[in-house]
Amino acid sequence: MKHKYLINLLDPADYLSVSQMFNPETGALEEDQRIISLPEGPHLMFDFVDTIMYGTARYHEHSVGWETFFITTGCCDLTVRGKTCRLVPGDIIHVQPWMGHQMSFPEPTVYRGIFHDINMSGTLKNLAYIREVNPKQLEGLASFQRYLLRADNIIRETPVSVRVDKSEVPEVRTPDRPLGVYELEGVTMKQYTGRWENNGLTELWKAEMEDGFTVEFFEDNPNTDIFYIIDGEVRFKVAGEEFTATHDCLVKIPPYAPRSFTAKGKAIMFDLAGLTHWLDLLEDYTSIKTNDPARLEDKDAMAALKEKYNCQVASFGIMK
Ligand SMILES: [Fe+2]
Repeated sequence: MKHKYLINLLDPADYLSVSQMFNPETGALEEDQRIISLPEGPHLMFDFVDTIMYGTARYHEHSVGWETFFITTGCCDLTVRGKTCRLVPGDIIHVQPWMGHQMSFPEPTVYRGIFHDINMSGTLKNLAYIREVNPKQLEGLASFQRYLLRADNIIRETPVSVRVDKSEVPEVRTPDRPLGVYELEGVTMKQYTGRWENNGLTELWKAEMEDGFTVEFFEDNPNTDIFYIIDGEVRFKVAGEEFTATHDCLVKIPPYAPRSFTAKGKAIMFDLAGLTHWLDLLEDYTSIKTNDPARLEDKDAMAALKEKYNCQVASFGIMK
């Protein structure tokens, strides 16, 4: 990696490792994978993989493991529960355990996202290693599927499905249909996955920021942050280093690194690590603002509210 905290998803120097998946019967390249962030802790958090998909990720399910993926370029036909729908750039797929899912890509498609509770990077790294040292192990469909099964990818029969609009498939989250929206000074927060559907561990929010929107975090912030910038420019300060992140960048910040950021012009980014309980915090904040606004002036009460929901924001707003 060229930079401690800034990851350019388009720069091979920022890939931790690469792996490929080939069709076990035809030998055609199906998935070109770049491992960007490794899983951490007992729940294997922050496992980020950026992939160019050329074929079909066959119908499969996981006994554990949540996956949240962004269609970035190209398009994808997602099949779940006998329904197939077409996804375009900007759409997000969120899949939970025991939910069979197949993704077919009619054209080369940048498909990137994050897992938790399943070590997908490890599965891909092992695959690359086997191919290097003992490729016979992966010959033929049965061998390949056995490998995947051992890594909790339970391959299913080819699904039979009907075409539907993506609005009928709750695993699909489109930019125009967030689960919730909150307007704050200089930022609109939009929710795309909930803690209730992520094993209680994360939630996915998008911040649509105005020019000059700035967030300062507490210095003793114990959270890992992963920000995924999809539009505009965001200037970060992390542990004394300053840098600008643009689209196709992740910013990964380790626990206890002092951090702040400012949007330079309008900018949009996702909070990918998702450790803050934003929904609960924003709901409670809205309630207090509506029902008991005097409490907003009570610094101790507000600090307790942030602590309760693991919010490490010290201050925010427009600063120019
Ligand atoms: Fe999967």
